[in-house]
Amino acid sequence: MKNYVEKRKADVFYRKAKAENYRARSAYKLIELQEKFHIIKKSDVIVDCGAAPGSWSQVALEFAGSDGLVIGIDVLPVAKLTNRFTFIQGDLTDEEMPKKIISVSKSIDVVISDAAPEFSGIKTLDMGKAHDLNLVVLDLAKKILKKGGNFVCKTFQSSEFQRFVREVKKVFAQVYTFKPQSSQKNSPETYVIGLRKK
Ligand SMILES: C[S@@+](CC[C@H](N)C(=O)[O-])C[C@H]1O[C@@H](n2cnc3c(N)ncnc32)[C@H](O)[C@@H]1O
Repeated sequence: MKNYVEKRKADVFYRKAKAENYRARSAYKLIELQEKFHIIKKSDVIVDCGAAPGSWSQVALEFAGSDGLVIGIDVLPVAKLTNRFTFIQGDLTDEEMPKKIISVSKSIDVVISDAAPEFSGIKTLDMGKAHDLNLVVLDLAKKILKKGGNFVCKTFQSSEFQRFVREVKKVFAQVYTFKPQSSQKNSPETYVIGLRKK
């Protein structure tokens, strides 16, 4: 029964995304995060890590407005959005990635990441891979994000989770964790929010 309710709830967001022209239901997770934490401001330059198929970039473009800019990164292609969207097809672990991003914009206000590795189904292995990817994204934020900038990163509740939160606290003045309503309850996914890079 619970599974049925969860699935139906998932369908509500799926249908809403279709009706509102978002490329994925995950759009609503960023909308909730924005409503609660005011991560993105008008005219911001935002780096969207793990951007495909593009719904977080769509939402980020809306919140940043006509003077904003979104730089999406993914190993998979992302179809063109507005002319305020630049896409870098590549791997977040690429050592040259900070340089590639900075060549698009030298001042980055926000880094958002919904990136997740491919899961094998072996929990300890998958959670380890997700933690490693989170550290890569945090390291990228350390390198490219301006002082005072904001950060959001998808994580998974696991033995590594608190360790990651501690790392984020070293970099940002305020740190929160949040599970949006639009995230399925049976998923271990949780978002870590870092406000005001030190
Ligand atoms: C859940 S999807 C993101 C959905 C996206 N936020 C949206 O709303 O459309 C996770 C993405 O992370 C990407 N990803 C995972 N590992 C990556 C890596 N090392 N480098 C770049 N992208 C990666 C995957 O290709 C996948 O497209």
